[in-house]
Amino acid sequence: MNRADAAQRTAELREAIRHHDYAYYVEARPEVADVEYDALVQELRDLEQTFPELVTPDSPTQRVAGQPVDAFRPVEHKVAMLSLDNATTPEHLREFEARLSRARPGAEFRYVCEPKIDGLGVALLYRQGRFVRGATRGDGRVGEEITQNLRTIRSLPMTLRGRLAAVPEVEVRGEVFMPRAEFEKLNRSLEEAGETTFANPRNAAAGAVRQKDPATTARRPLDIFLYHVSEARELGFTTYGETLEALREAGFKVNPRTEPCPTLDAVVAYCERLEAERDALGYDADGAVIKVDALEQQWRLGSTMHHPRWAIAFKFAARQATTVVQSIDVHVGKTGTLTPVAKLEPVELAGVTIRNVSLHNEDEIRRKDIRIGDTVLIERAGDVIPYVVQVVAAKRPPGSEAFTFPERCPVCKHTAVRIPGEAYWRCPNSACPAQLKERLRHFGSRRAMDIEHLGEAVIEQLVERRLVGNFADLYRLTVGDLVELERLAEKSAHNLVAAIEGSKHRGLAPLLNALGIRMVGERVAGVLANHFGSLARLQEASVTELTEIRGIGEEIAESVRKFFDDESNAEVIRQLATAGLTMSQPGFQADAPRPLAGQTFVLTGTLQSLTRDAARELIERLGGRVTSSVSRKTSYVVVGEAAGSKADDARRLGVAILDEPRLLELLQRR
Ligand code: IVH
Repeated sequence: MNRADAAQRTAELREAIRHHDYAYYVEARPEVADVEYDALVQELRDLEQTFPELVTPDSPTQRVAGQPVDAFRPVEHKVAMLSLDNATTPEHLREFEARLSRARPGAEFRYVCEPKIDGLGVALLYRQGRFVRGATRGDGRVGEEITQNLRTIRSLPMTLRGRLAAVPEVEVRGEVFMPRAEFEKLNRSLEEAGETTFANPRNAAAGAVRQKDPATTARRPLDIFLYHVSEARELGFTTYGETLEALREAGFKVNPRTEPCPTLDAVVAYCERLEAERDALGYDADGAVIKVDALEQQWRLGSTMHHPRWAIAFKFAARQATTVVQSIDVHVGKTGTLTPVAKLEPVELAGVTIRNVSLHNEDEIRRKDIRIGDTVLIERAGDVIPYVVQVVAAKRPPGSEAFTFPERCPVCKHTAVRIPGEAYWRCPNSACPAQLKERLRHFGSRRAMDIEHLGEAVIEQLVERRLVGNFADLYRLTVGDLVELERLAEKSAHNLVAAIEGSKHRGLAPLLNALGIRMVGERVAGVLANHFGSLARLQEASVTELTEIRGIGEEIAESVRKFFDDESNAEVIRQLATAGLTMSQPGFQADAPRPLAGQTFVLTGTLQSLTRDAARELIERLGGRVTSSVSRKTSYVVVGEAAGSKADDARRLGVAILDEPRLLELLQRR
């Protein structure tokens, strides 16, 4: 290829790659498969290698290029990068509008609202539509040049389109951030490598942007939303909305949650809605930014030294706070799991006072090196249970010691055990009163046997006075026993006895949940109840039989088997049955015809009239089993379209083959 052809082809390739980058990184609507895209990039690389003089700084191949730097050069911003004034309540927003009206009497204001990204503000310079320089905010007047690192952000266009493409020099601003999913991935890999993790996506993004080697930045995927064009009025724009349109047209990513709000009521509604939905954004937003839409009004309102008068940030409730670990207690769970819990100096977080936080297990404490007396950063995001993000190392009191996990159960003093490969220490003593109390509490809880009046104080006394040593003992309690308890009036005793009596017929699923079998919660209990219909049948099921049920893995199966193999559990179940508890699933027809009992099916290929799950369900309802691999014992292999090797296996082993019509016939005939 001659040089002229090569120049032509590189231009074509660059255009194609830019187009696909935009489709993939900005619009999230890829148009080609990865291999096709990779082939384009490879072809461009090869050409640029043969004709090095054709390489340009804005070539897609140059995103991860450039030499590591020792220090970042200072950059003076053309226009100072100001901060934002804050509002934390709707009233503050109304005061903001009142201030606007005082400054521009008689004017009407329309607004544009958008998420306030918790990232890093950057200023980007484009000359004749080409990216030439990027800088951090710094102190607002002077920042640091991070051009090479910003080039690694794939959603950032290196060349512009539309109206901004022809502008001799334009400065645009936006927020660099790390998407939450990338942040979690990064922290996981840092953790695996034994390196310090980042406390939040913002710190991770800041770390990535300030990497001395752009190759490292490239491995920490960042993204950017643009929200500002400096000197937009001079470029002929009249509203902020129009400016955003031009940014979008130029190929920049503009936040899709940006909305015009014609009134302050609409602004307040926007802020409330965004705060309620913040967890679904995929990135951290710490508030909303409200901007006056008309650029003429912005210009007339002007700025203070600190912030523009035409914009305000509505801050969401904080989700991170620091507090002090007063002690670390160990809690005994219903299966003997020992869970360390930090008692905290109470702290208000997103509207709730936090006093305790689970530290999960020994390894977690060791990994985060959490000590008594430490100041810790805690977080409570959405519905997530509060947790310790990290220790504030600078605030560690002198002379503190690493936490050592107790060797004994804090309640019964039995030696604790930690099975190799397991994360938790356990109290192996099944008679441990702490475990018994937890088991009883769970047994009576709403989603289990739902025994009203069986509160913690009552359980405490029942166990301490040895009135109850297992679940079955509950059903032997009399009013006479209960009135002996402290603070239990006769009426309450009657109520409790009645509530216990009333719990006898909850059915199999709640009972299975109530028994506190390890790894069997509400969902698994439901699956088992539906499959077996009665406790007696479940008790006979082998591990193999259990693992063949959808949703039941090996670990659950073994835990179930182990529970029923334990003689004392079997004894309690006998006693519960004698007490008259319902031990079957209401509506389950144990005697329903099970014509496919004893037959096993393997499904392969695509069926036309029903999904594989539906086919499985129909077969199971008739008593058949569906397994995944073909053996001589398989009764039928059901072969759909594009069936693979399993059909061959069937032929080789001489197993009967059913096509779809014959399967349907078989299912219907029964
Ligand atoms: S507008 C002159 N819009 O928040 C306009 N800022 O606390 C000022 N930020 O320094 C910025 N998301 O780094 C604006 N949608 C958004 C923003 C945003 C995040 C940052 C920005 C600014 C800081 C002010």
